[in-house]
Amino acid sequence: MGKRVRLGVNIDHVATVRNARRTFEPDPVHAAVIADLAGADQITLHVREDRRHVNERDLKLIKELIHSRVNLEMAPTDEMVEIAISVKPHQVTLVPEKREEITTEGGLDVLSQKKKIKKVVEKLKSAGITVNIFIDPEPEQIRAAAEVGADAVELHTGRYAEAFAENNKEETEKELHRLKEAAKVAKEAGLKVYAGHGLTYKNVKPVAEIPEIEELNIGHSIVANAILFGLKEAVEKMIRLINSNK
Ligand code: PXP
Repeated sequence: MGKRVRLGVNIDHVATVRNARRTFEPDPVHAAVIADLAGADQITLHVREDRRHVNERDLKLIKELIHSRVNLEMAPTDEMVEIAISVKPHQVTLVPEKREEITTEGGLDVLSQKKKIKKVVEKLKSAGITVNIFIDPEPEQIRAAAEVGADAVELHTGRYAEAFAENNKEETEKELHRLKEAAKVAKEAGLKVYAGHGLTYKNVKPVAEIPEIEELNIGHSIVANAILFGLKEAVEKMIRLINSNK
């Protein structure tokens, strides 16, 4: 038997749809419960500074209702550290955050702010929270993550995913190789190794097969599939309802 890779389901974009109408549905808390019941090993959510999708209410309810792990992605700011310490998710993933970006664009630059990140890691760990850092697959960033005391690194798979989407085989192989080498460096540095960003049903397998990788966090593609595969049933149900006799 091969290794088992944990799946963290990121439910942020369920909240994106909710917030587009400033209404209560679809509720990311319901989505988290369904993903949990369906066997997800973890629910992942990114509370952003601008609260563009999930918010503290979602985080608190999800923490209460979920039987699997809760992984809070957050920027290393005082505000977010305070929220994390009060809600106590099982894991925090430190990510960089720019207001203008559509999604997290690059990994956290740990190297240039080691002192600051070390303090954040210490605070979170002393509250009993496991700390993961989302970084580009670069050896010097991985070593810096180990130096600041992280438990794990999540390797940014965005460049691999982009090359795959462009059908650029050479670049895809190159990026996959970078991920494989980075995973080895991380393991050697005593870190747990995760990966995520831009992973889809088509490109996920080679990443899942990297021996050191224990966990993948996937959001957009799962939510996209849920919308498409759920649409037939949703349309049929509405047609039945509007044509039914009392
Ligand atoms: N991992 C991290 C650290 C992320 O910031 C994100 C996006 O929020 C993901 C995984 C999931 O990425 P995607 O939605 O592209 O699957």
